[in-house]
Amino acid sequence: MSTVGLSESWKTQETPQPGGGGAIVELVGVHKSFGRQKVLRGIDIAFQRGKTTVVLGPSGSGKSVILKHIAGLLRPDSGEVRYEGKRIDRLSERDLIPMRKDLGFLFQLSALFDSMTITENLEFPLVEHESLAPDERRERVKEVLAVVDLVGVEKKFPAQLSGGQQRRAALARAIIQGPRLMLYDEPTTGLDPIRSAGISDLIVKLKKETGMTGIVVTHDLACMRKVADRVVMLFEGQLIVDGTPEEITASEVPHVQHFITGTAEEEMDKFRHDEPSGVLRRRKEAGA
Ligand SMILES: Nc1ncnc2c1ncn2[C@@H]1O[C@H](COP(=O)(O)OP(=O)(O)O)[C@@H](O)[C@H]1O
Ligand SMILES: [Mg+2]
Repeated sequence: MSTVGLSESWKTQETPQPGGGGAIVELVGVHKSFGRQKVLRGIDIAFQRGKTTVVLGPSGSGKSVILKHIAGLLRPDSGEVRYEGKRIDRLSERDLIPMRKDLGFLFQLSALFDSMTITENLEFPLVEHESLAPDERRERVKEVLAVVDLVGVEKKFPAQLSGGQQRRAALARAIIQGPRLMLYDEPTTGLDPIRSAGISDLIVKLKKETGMTGIVVTHDLACMRKVADRVVMLFEGQLIVDGTPEEITASEVPHVQHFITGTAEEEMDKFRHDEPSGVLRRRKEAGA
């Protein structure tokens, strides 16, 4: 039994692979435009089972659009999306249901229902998709809240939680059906460095304890370094690098360097804004 406290039934079931090798999801030659705006211009990538892949890229480059193709929320203009070796991009909503059961999606904004308690929020996907008895549902809610280190908030409303707690609750809801594949859209955006690190740690823990595959869209380089087995970067509709976090950080591809240094500087700026009350001011006062 794992330390994370997930029941056995809940864990990733390894199924034999029809076709796709080690890949759980593949995008093959995916193009997508909105009106005259070409967002994806030929995306080819296979996401490896049990690994966490980070997708970097400037704002508006199409990162969320990629995740929505994987979830079957958007369809490519041309090209294919495959899940477990099978094409999913032409399936009806109804035929997408089995794939969606395997899938957890942490949306860019936590997207909890304001008028529901945390328990009601977490039970929502279960009521929709699973025929569990009420006490089994309660048990599952307790279980996932423990996984995200958020016990005792069952009866609270989202507005009564801090930003970091809301993100954890949204994550708990995303994993409550025991997904084999988790899509994280900017999981740490808007959180301070400590709470961000907490979310990154959870992403690592979920992978370790359940073997789930992760695809993480982020701007947060600290998150990237913590969670990524592999990093790709989207730029002008195409993937321009593919490597380990170390390789990406050391990359000499100009757009990648630019992105990494630009993002690091933004982070430093935030840090500088935060600081004058503390170390910097004291240093200043000391005449440094
Ligand atoms: N449903 C949509 N309809 C029209 N334009 C869209 C839609 N979804 C995304 N876009 C556009 O596609 C581009 C990429 O969006 P997105 O994937 O959200 O960027 P990001 O990399 O910041 O996640 C943006 O210019 C956005 O306005
Ligand atoms: Mg986005």
